[in-house]
Amino acid sequence: MAGYDGATLVSYTVAFHHATPHGVLSAIHIPDAPEPVPESVVARLHVEEAEFARTLRGYRQVQFVGGRLAIRSALQQLGLASTPILPNERGAPVLPKGLSGSITHKRDLALAMVARDALGTLGVDLEDYAPPRPSIAERVLVAEEIEALQRLAEERRWIALLLRFSIKEAVYKALDPYVHRYVGFHEVMVRPDLHGWAEVTLRLEKGEGPFEAEARYEWLFGRIVTSVRIREAQTDTQQVAAQS
Ligand SMILES: CC(C)(COP(=O)(O)OP(=O)(O)OC[C@H]1O[C@@H](n2cnc3c(N)ncnc32)[C@H](O)[C@@H]1OP(=O)(O)O)[C@@H](O)C(=O)NCCC(=O)NCCS
Repeated sequence: MAGYDGATLVSYTVAFHHATPHGVLSAIHIPDAPEPVPESVVARLHVEEAEFARTLRGYRQVQFVGGRLAIRSALQQLGLASTPILPNERGAPVLPKGLSGSITHKRDLALAMVARDALGTLGVDLEDYAPPRPSIAERVLVAEEIEALQRLAEERRWIALLLRFSIKEAVYKALDPYVHRYVGFHEVMVRPDLHGWAEVTLRLEKGEGPFEAEARYEWLFGRIVTSVRIREAQTDTQQVAAQS
């Protein structure tokens, strides 16, 4: 991560790599503008990814290319060869068997996190701290979370809301491989602690699960990065069977 200052931005180059408890995080500088991605950059992708990128326009193309370069970079950090990573029908990146990965982009940065999937599937999200958008509270929070925010000092409420928003977006990405459906913000409850971790409670309307979810957050250069790892929880019967 050393050396990143955000100011000396060279588009489509590595901004930083960062090891986290959930996986390797790689970041790529992207231009905060909708101009077409130069063909010389598109050509750096795998052929199938490049074909897909050429069908995209504006910011979508910039973000897709940045995300693919980031995930390739993260795979390289794990010492793994990069293979074409195409979106499935729900927009999720499809990684080779045995791996999980997730992508997020915001303005001038694309991030990807990759890990082996033995401990679960990954979701990652990146959010700007500023400007505060307190009006999202009603859409994002359940009643218990609104009450928790009201108990906080006024100046701490926005960060408490932003953390929950970001972690829920990461939950969505990590959960998608199991549920394959839109999961609403009100189906998830998040309780961040002060040490970079958060408790996640899933109240899935269609009764899927049970799942174990682990969430964490950290500040990176004035932004918040959250990641979530989800796996299917073993039922009591499965645990007994595994031990016998
Ligand atoms: C899908 C969603 C989470 C993406 O978040 P976003 O802030 O719009 O965009 P981000 O830059 O953070 O993430 C975009 C990346 O998400 C990934 N993504 C998209 N759909 C996905 C899915 N169904 N599952 C997993 N990852 C997905 C893609 O990799 C995409 O980047 P790419 O197209 O370049 O590959 C968001 O648009 C959404 O629909 N949210 C509403 C549902 C929700 O968050 N519920 C919370 C409770 S679970």
